[in-house]
This record gives sequence, C-alpha cells and structure tokens, in this order.
Amino acid sequence: MAIFFVLVCSLIFVAIASYVHYARRRQGEGQGGGYGGGHAKAASPKLPPGSMGWPYLGETLQLYSQDPNVFFASRQKRYGEIFKTHLLGCPCVMLASPEAARFVLVTHAHLFKPTYPRSKERMIGPSALFFHQGEYHLRLRRLVQGALGPDALRALVPEVDAAVRSTLAAWDGRVMSTFHAMKRLSFDVGIVTIFGGRLDERRKAELRRNYSVVEKGYNCFPNSLPGTLYHKAMQARRRLHGALSDIMRERRERGEPGSDLLGCLMQSRGDDGAPLLTDEQVADNIIGVLFAAQDTTASVLTWIIKFLRDHPKLLEAVRAEQAAVREATGGGRRPLTWAHARSMALTHRVILESLRMASIISFTFREAVADVEYKGFLIPKGWKVMPLFRNIHHNPDYFQDPHKFDPCRFQVAPRPNTFLPFGSGVHACPGNELAKLEMLVLIHHLVTGYRWEIVGSSDEVEYSPFPVPKHGLPVRLWRENRTADRKGGSESDDVEDMIVSHSN
Ligand code: HEM
Repeated sequence: MAIFFVLVCSLIFVAIASYVHYARRRQGEGQGGGYGGGHAKAASPKLPPGSMGWPYLGETLQLYSQDPNVFFASRQKRYGEIFKTHLLGCPCVMLASPEAARFVLVTHAHLFKPTYPRSKERMIGPSALFFHQGEYHLRLRRLVQGALGPDALRALVPEVDAAVRSTLAAWDGRVMSTFHAMKRLSFDVGIVTIFGGRLDERRKAELRRNYSVVEKGYNCFPNSLPGTLYHKAMQARRRLHGALSDIMRERRERGEPGSDLLGCLMQSRGDDGAPLLTDEQVADNIIGVLFAAQDTTASVLTWIIKFLRDHPKLLEAVRAEQAAVREATGGGRRPLTWAHARSMALTHRVILESLRMASIISFTFREAVADVEYKGFLIPKGWKVMPLFRNIHHNPDYFQDPHKFDPCRFQVAPRPNTFLPFGSGVHACPGNELAKLEMLVLIHHLVTGYRWEIVGSSDEVEYSPFPVPKHGLPVRLWRENRTADRKGGSESDDVEDMIVSHSN
C-alpha cells in the first residue's frame, strides 16, 4: 500500500513538474522571436489566455469527452475571443472573432499555412489543392474555380435536376437514412461535375465502390497493418487512382479531353506551354474534390430536411414559392434552369440559415509559419491556429437569438466576416455555388413532389464526421397526391404572410 502511495505521489509530482516546466518554456517562447506581421507591436506580446491542460495530453480528453461545441463555447466564455489550448499533441490558438478570422484567412493568409495530418494527406493525395499555398495552389485554384464557375453551373443544372429526381424516386415509399440518401446524391453530382455526365455506369460503380472504402479509412487510426480500415482504404485509393488514370488515357486516345473539371485539369498548361499537372496530380485533385464535395453537402442537406420538417409554416411557405416555379416548368415536365434556381428567394434564405445553424464545418486549421502578433497576443511559429466559424455563427452579437431557426434574418446581409460557412480568403470553398444549386434543386423537387416524416427522435446529434441528426435522420418519404393537395388549399393566411415577409 505504502509503495502504491509513493508511486502515485511520484507520478503526480512528475506531472506537475513537467507541466510547470512546459508552461515556463511556452511562456519563454512567448517573449522572444521576430514577428511575421500583425497590428501595432506591443512591448512584450504574451500568449493568449487559456489552459494548455496536461503535459502531452493537453485538453484533448476534455474535447473528446463532451460536445466539441460546448468545449469551444465554454472556453470562449471564460477567456474571450482569443484563447490558447493544446489538442492532439499540438499547441493551438483559437480565434472566435470575425476580425481574427479575417486576419488569419484573408489579410495575413501568407503567415498561416494549411495543415492536415500526414496520414490524411496521403489518403486524399498530397497534390490536392487544399494542402498547398503559393503559386501551385493559385494556378490549381483558378482551374477548379473555372470548372465550377457560373457558366459551368448553368450547363450542369439539367444534370443536377436528373440526379435529384432519381434520388427521390429511389427513396419513394421507403424509410431511409437521409444522410445516406444525400451522400449518394452528392456523390452523383460530384461525378457529373468532374466527368461532365460522360462516365458510363460501370466506371461510376467502380469509383463509388472504391471511394466508399477510402472514406471509411479516412477518420481511422492510421495503422498500415493488413486488414485494418486504414490499410484497406489506402489500397482502395490506389485502385481509384488506377481507374482515373485509365479514364484519362481513354480520353487522350479519343482526342477528347473534355471541358469538364477533369478535362480542365488535364489540359492545363504552364507559361512554357508544358502540361501544368502530371496524371498523378490530376488524380489527387479529383479525389480531393470528391472528398470536399460529398459529406459536406450531404450533411447540410440532411439538416435542411430536418429544419423544414420542424417548421411546418415555413415549409408551407417554401412549398408555395416552389409551386410557382413548378408552374414555370410546365408542372415539372421540363427540367429546372439556372434562371429558376436564381428566383427562389425564400428557399435560398432557408439554405443560408441552415448553413449558419448547422455550421457543419465548426472551424478550420492553419499553422503559423512565423511568430505572429495579433492584438497584442503572440501566436508562436508552428502553433496551430483555428478560426472558430461556429462560435461566430452562434454569437448573439452578430446573429440575434442565434439558436432560433429564422431564415428572415438573411433579408439583411450579415455583417462582414460573420458568416463563413464556406470559409474565406484564398482557400474559401470554390464549390459553394454548386452546393447551393444542389440544395435548391433538391428542395424544389422534395417540397413540390413529396411528403415526408421523420422516424424516431431527431434531437440528438452524431458526428460522421460532420454533425448530423442521430442515425443520419431516418425519414419515410412518399410521393404526394397532388390533386388532393390542390383541393385541400393548405396555404393559410399565416403562410401567405410569411411568403411576403421572406420575399422582401
Ligand atoms: C455545403 C457544402 C460545403 C461546405 C459547407 C464547404 C465548406 C468549405 C470550407 C469551409 C472550405 C475552406 C476550408 C479552409 O479554409 O480550410 C472549403 C474548401 C474547399 N471546398 Fe468546400 N464546402 C462545401 C461543398 C463543396 C463542394 C460541392 C465542392 C466541389 C465540388 C467543394 C470543394 C472544395 C475545395 C476544392 C476546397 C479547397 C479550396 C482551397 O484550398 O483552395 N466544396 N469548403
């Protein structure tokens, strides 16, 4: 017993001593070094307030033992809009103010590089644009943005329309996990965006099969032992790569590289006229776009379906707006067009409010490439820096009554840098318009053609990896009886009021 007691005391002593040593060392680092940029330099910038937790462990256990949003919100309450912590072996500075997010992502972006765990870079592909900065990133970004720009999207509307119709038809009369149905849809939309609707079903099935193994390994412990999810995912990644190389070779042999995203990447040329990207780099970026497009869009679509169900009057108002659009498509006989999608004012606000409420990307990561001073605080070189989007989106100073789902708030544009669902600056999401288009089209067909009910409770949240309602929101969906509805005259005066107020 005595030996046990001595052992426990020694352990506690070692932990405290190393913590004190560690804290001093960090404080020491805080006093020295040059500054990469920032506001007026204070005499001796200090580290931001906050707790670095236990040596080595930091506050990782606290983060993982509770809702991550509660973890960040409680620290913001205690320390303010800039605070330090230590997570997953890395010292971090958290930034919960719009100005700080702008500083890191826009005005001083060159001082903060993107940072991802090495295992995740290997899984997606090290040449994918989100891992890079500088010239290579800039050139790639222009290509990706071009392939996702307004002209390309206009041409994609019929394809997105067809993908949505087919997803809903497959769901008709069944209970399905909304998240899974939406993942399938987002994958299909990703495929038509990348391959321009020219991919045969066999190839598509091959890509889908391998991609689903890759994503299962993405959030696993990176263990390369045969049989582990990570190992299987890396093997599937190689097969994906092989399939993409075959598609590129076939296009070259036919002399038709195409004007879709794949074609744009394949045909890109540097200033000297030589190909800008190798096939390997193209494949990394294609896998990267699929990855960036799928779970993000599917999670938001899942929340939209829940929010609409939870707010029946709003749903009726959206239904009325979409009924008018349906008339314009000859009662659904013609596909939607870009102009139709641009005319959905209330539906667009529902999407913005869903993006704010769900804030599925709660924060992003950067790493300081030099000692940086911000508002008198030091962000030491090598520290992770995390702009906290969700904290900003849920701050009552910027969004009154932030926990209320209220699309009306978007009748007025949010204050600058307070609404960042797609990030900001050089790495801001180039797929944001495509994602919104997909949501508009889905809502159109859902509310004009179907009814749905949530099966079981939808109040708990799970992370897969983005937050979604528990079990992916199981929903029973069925085609509506249009005749009965029209006769029923379900639009009340309240609903008409809502349409008027939302359309202003
Ligand atoms: C609701 C859906 C989506 C959300 C919420 C979302 C959110 C974001 C955010 C926050 C970033 C910036 C990350 C950072 O700064 O570290 C980002 C980057 C990116 N997103 Fe999205 N995204 C969505 C859909 C899409 C789609 C549909 C595509 C492509 C078809 C896409 C492609 C990308 C790419 C390629 C980047 C990296 C850009 C760069 O590093 O320059 N995203 N996204």
